[in-house]
Amino acid sequence: MATVASPLDRIRPAAPVIEPRGVPEFVQQQIKGAVHKELIQRVDLDKLSDLNESQGGQKQLFQLIQQLLGEQGVPLSSTERDRLAKEVVNEVFGLGPLEPLLSDPTVSDILVNTYNSVYVERRGQLEKTNIVFNDNRHLLHIIDKIVSAVGRRVDESSPMVDARLADGSRVNVIIPPLAIDGPILSIRRFGNTPLGAEDLLRNQMLTPPMLECLQGAVKARLNIVVSGGTGAGKTTLLNVLSGFISSKERIVTIEDSAELLMKQEHVVRLETRPPNVEGTGAIRQRELVMNALRMRPDRIVLGEVRGEECLDMLQAMNTGHDGSLTTIHSNTPRDALARMETMAMMGDVRLPEKAIKAQIAAAVHLIVQVSRQADGTRRITHISEITGAQSDIISMTDVFLFEKQGLGANGKVRGRFYSTGIMPRFSEKLIAAGIPMPLSIRDHSVEI
Ligand SMILES: Nc1ncnc2c1ncn2[C@@H]1O[C@H](COP(=O)(O)OP(=O)(O)OP(=O)(O)O)[C@@H](O)[C@H]1O
Ligand SMILES: [Mg+2]
Repeated sequence: MATVASPLDRIRPAAPVIEPRGVPEFVQQQIKGAVHKELIQRVDLDKLSDLNESQGGQKQLFQLIQQLLGEQGVPLSSTERDRLAKEVVNEVFGLGPLEPLLSDPTVSDILVNTYNSVYVERRGQLEKTNIVFNDNRHLLHIIDKIVSAVGRRVDESSPMVDARLADGSRVNVIIPPLAIDGPILSIRRFGNTPLGAEDLLRNQMLTPPMLECLQGAVKARLNIVVSGGTGAGKTTLLNVLSGFISSKERIVTIEDSAELLMKQEHVVRLETRPPNVEGTGAIRQRELVMNALRMRPDRIVLGEVRGEECLDMLQAMNTGHDGSLTTIHSNTPRDALARMETMAMMGDVRLPEKAIKAQIAAAVHLIVQVSRQADGTRRITHISEITGAQSDIISMTDVFLFEKQGLGANGKVRGRFYSTGIMPRFSEKLIAAGIPMPLSIRDHSVEI
């Protein structure tokens, strides 16, 4: 309702305006910074960590922060004060602005592109958040906390780091001068609840008969390579496949930064080591594969084959360590074979191409191709069997395929999982292991 202007308005002093929106965000951030500094000055840091350990201590600390906030002389509402106090606690003990994202189970990736642009992936889709750091120095400080907790460091002389959070999440950091605009942080979360076989079925990454086939293949000790692009779901599938290994077996896992979450009891986990400040002391995957062979493993699970260790892995697969599992970065099963060839050659340049091809054909039984679709869903697009090598060509037969059939309503990718009708040769191995594959898999077809 419009009010009628009174001639007296001009001489009446204006009534004090009550700000309905509270204290502006940038002022709150300044207060937070000031309180953080004050807190560190007043309480010594050793005592702070003691305080953090006990429940009562946390409460005491929270009260102290509240008191310091009160001393700043800015009228904050109680919700603002609580929120700021929590943020200060996160700043001191946790990972600052990242904390709310880390405690959100629906977030699978956190991508920080300099201090003022933070993206997350939820259910396969990227979205921008309104989370910001104060500045790039603040971001670098949080990054420092992450990497120093696992005994690594990041600075101009080593500006790229892979690390791992306490909950198993994988972290990559790259800072200037390599990253042009400021520090970049990428976190791949392997939350406390990794995706299991049921989740993959629910998300239609594959169908029940395909899962049954893969489960049988793992149990019957086939050597399996999971192939796919970045973020396609290779490690997730490897984790699920490893879950089918019997708990009676001794498993050795080898990774660049440990991501696999094995449920079995008898697991030895190995992780590579980057070079030290002088550039020496690195332990590569190849050395770990060789060492693993001396540890009497029943199975070797190699997180991702990236280079020369491919040759040792193939040799291991060929010399009695069958049932090994690994992943490879490539876009088709054929591509995966070509990459393995190149990588094996890095391991020993003197080996003739033909010999390498023969080794691959003899070592690898199954290639499972995973791919990330345009709508963010992940599908197994091929389960292909390696059937041998004729002259210079490795022969491969598709057992299951996914065929894209276009886009449905709301942008969902539609398609069909189907079996090619060929009974895989490895079905004999499955029968021998007491896990016969049902004949019905030969005419399997499911539209989604
Ligand atoms: N079937 C699935 N359904 C939904 N989300 C999935 C599925 N598989 C994987 N994801 C999610 O996709 C992300 C990437 O998965 P994952 O780490 O397994 O991929 P990757 O191929 O190993 O990636 P990289 O190439 O970086 O090693 C994870 O956040 C994971 O939770
Ligand atoms: Mg991976």
